[in-house]
Amino acid sequence: MVDEYKAVNEAMNEETQAHPLEPSTDQMRVMVDKAAERVIDHIASLPRQPASYDPHDADARARTAALAESLPERGTDLDGLLDLLFREAIPPSFNTAGPGYLAYIPGGGIFPSALADFIANAVNRYVGVWIAAPGLAQPELNVVRWFCEIIGYPPEAGGILTTGGSLANFTAVVTARKERLPDDFLAGTIYTSDQTHHSIRKAAVLAGFPEGNVREIATDEDYRIRLDDLRRRIAEDREDGLRPFMLVTSAGTTNTGAIDDLGGAADVAEDEGLWLHVDAAYGGFFMLTERGRESMRGIERADSVALDPHKGLFLPYGNGSLLVREPETLRRAHTIFADYMPEMQQDTDLVDFCQLSPELSRDFRGLRAWLPIKLFGIDAFRSSLDEKLDLARWATDQLREVPDMEILAEPKLSLTAFRWAPAGYSEDGLNDLNRALLKSVNARQNVYITGTMLRGQYALRICVLSFRTHLERMQRCMVDIRECIEELTTSIEEPVAGDVREADQHT
Ligand SMILES: Cc1ncc(COP(=O)(O)O)c(C=O)c1O
Repeated sequence: MVDEYKAVNEAMNEETQAHPLEPSTDQMRVMVDKAAERVIDHIASLPRQPASYDPHDADARARTAALAESLPERGTDLDGLLDLLFREAIPPSFNTAGPGYLAYIPGGGIFPSALADFIANAVNRYVGVWIAAPGLAQPELNVVRWFCEIIGYPPEAGGILTTGGSLANFTAVVTARKERLPDDFLAGTIYTSDQTHHSIRKAAVLAGFPEGNVREIATDEDYRIRLDDLRRRIAEDREDGLRPFMLVTSAGTTNTGAIDDLGGAADVAEDEGLWLHVDAAYGGFFMLTERGRESMRGIERADSVALDPHKGLFLPYGNGSLLVREPETLRRAHTIFADYMPEMQQDTDLVDFCQLSPELSRDFRGLRAWLPIKLFGIDAFRSSLDEKLDLARWATDQLREVPDMEILAEPKLSLTAFRWAPAGYSEDGLNDLNRALLKSVNARQNVYITGTMLRGQYALRICVLSFRTHLERMQRCMVDIRECIEELTTSIEEPVAGDVREADQHT
């Protein structure tokens, strides 16, 4: 048997020598081994790598500029290309896969998903149409159904995997428009809050609405949409002859991790006949935890929910999902027939994903979630998410101990927003001071955090969502914040030109 295999192998090697795009089986093994060695070394070194780099650094800019190149006529040896990638191209970047990445909403990068991509791309089967690869379309459908189960949707619910939250939100807006408005839809209005992710406004514009048709309703002290203002605005719009058709709520805002009153919002949507969408791109997978389920009660009443496995399920970038209570709504919005297409499935248990989504040909992305969930089991993800909830609360308690620290948003999930507010500064002065604090914390390169504006106040944010972030890194983060505050305090006591203190501004 082994001899037989060898003979076939040799024959193949001979045969493929004439085809430069087809490496021999031996060459493939060597290529895989070489790439695997680099990748594994890279992953092992992630905790020691700097948390970010300085995009304004002249050397980093020059190295990046040197990567621009003309179309190569001839091939290059793989070792040289791997050197280029791992030595020149990858290092000048935010270490988004490392344990110190506490910025924006962190992504993940669990290893089995990379393996899944390798397999999926190598076998290169077509999963957009059920009959083209039913044995692969089924695992992708399983993944969609698992996600539906996680958010508490009924068994008949469905959905699609997307490239991320923005595409999920876009697909939701298009579906809602199709379901609730006539073809002449320009009078349709969409209701969001002043904390809703900007991808919703972008989605509305891409779906053909004037940007002015998107209403931003004010939020309460917990950054949750004010439902009384919402009802009032809907009534005013109706009086003006407009057609309110969609309400978008958030389960985990990007600014503060706020969760709208999802049950209350569902009541408004029901009373007003609006399509209810929940943007749970960040928060959705916390539904795996008891605390998450408690804070997102009512999510299952939504017509559609966006949740991003490349956030809360720690998958690499390029993985989002849109779930809907009634898959027929997606089908009605996305089915267009063409003579050259194969026959589509009538059985609702067999899904042609191209009929539910804007895409036709695409990657086999289901495997990226299927493989790690099957390998590790969902409980491993649940535990890791619980750890993130604990770490965010721990960090908030630590920050509270720092003199003059204000917690601007208590963690509802794994995100905390705060600012250092010593006495004697104007609001502008405090904003500048906190920008300076952010810069000095990030300059230490142990962690990377980002800021935002909250009602005119510049806030620092810590979002704990990487499966690689544990207590030691959070402790390092707290030490860095305390030490940077001490350094800033010392430098302020010896004022220099451009000092931002209120007292100085009045003298
Ligand atoms: C709440 C929320 N919604 C939507 C998005 C957009 O998701 P993506 O970047 O995957 O397109 C983000 C991104 O961080 C987000 O935080």
